Amino acid sequence: MKVLIVGATGSIGSVILQHVVRRHDVTQVIALTRRLLSDHEIGDKKIKNIVIKDFGDLAKVQDETWEKIQDADALVWAMGTYDLNEEVNLNYPLSFQEEFAKRLLAFPRKREGTKDKFRFILLSGAFVEPDQSRRLYYLWDQRRMKGLLHTKTIEFAEAHRDFWEAFIIRPGGILSGGDTYLNKAVEYIFGRSLAIRSEELGAFVGGLVVHGAQQPVIENLEIVEGGRKLLQEGM
Ligand SMILES: NC(=O)c1ccc[n+]([C@@H]2O[C@H](COP(=O)([O-])OP(=O)(O)OC[C@H]3O[C@@H](n4cnc5c(N)ncnc54)[C@H](OP(=O)(O)O)[C@@H]3O)[C@@H](O)[C@H]2O)c1
Repeated sequence: MKVLIVGATGSIGSVILQHVVRRHDVTQVIALTRRLLSDHEIGDKKIKNIVIKDFGDLAKVQDETWEKIQDADALVWAMGTYDLNEEVNLNYPLSFQEEFAKRLLAFPRKREGTKDKFRFILLSGAFVEPDQSRRLYYLWDQRRMKGLLHTKTIEFAEAHRDFWEAFIIRPGGILSGGDTYLNKAVEYIFGRSLAIRSEELGAFVGGLVVHGAQQPVIENLEIVEGGRKLLQEGM
């Protein structure tokens, strides 16, 4: 299968990329980035790089670029910032979903006739708040904005359910660096509902890309348990 990753240059997206590439069922991964990646950054024959200079102006993306990606089976959206950037954290992913769905509808798909839907996987977070009326006590504007993206992504999938499905993953604090004392201490304090190792998340997303899940919204605990199982199986 062919998988697109947006945000593959990020600290979380790059780990997801490594784990998605590892899957035998994935034959090609395309990193959609705003700058050209070097061969060193790409690092694997299965990975290709396509540049979209400005995710805020998809009208400028050439038809030949869309043609290279419109037969993809899944997309992982790991682009995001930690500030209140409405373009990056809300408008870009929504516009991309709209535009990409139009392309899927306009062109016959390689897998036409199969029951598989296009799978859109959104990296969200455990503290993201979809309920716009809920009173929040910290980072309320960021959490609500990303919550709106969560809700609109689910609504979009429902409105296009014939060919589109969405999964929202809600990891807690992501720990990189492996089996360090600090990571063990954080895991002990926050537990499996609020902390996750980056490799657990990466392995889980690799599985999600290929197999999907029963529920559209996936919380940290499920990601930790699923990711650990896959890592034990060598994924
Ligand atoms: N850290 C955690 O514990 C945690 C937990 C749950 C969710 N999250 C969320 O996950 C998201 C990603 O986090 P991260 O730590 O991987 O961030 P990061 O290392 O800063 O990576 C951000 C990614 O988004 C891309 N990006 C940002 N602005 C862009 C723009 N205007 N146009 C195109 N691409 C753009 C970056 O591309 P360039 O390389 O081109 O800049 C990069 O690939 C954030 O929204 C964060 O809130 C984090």
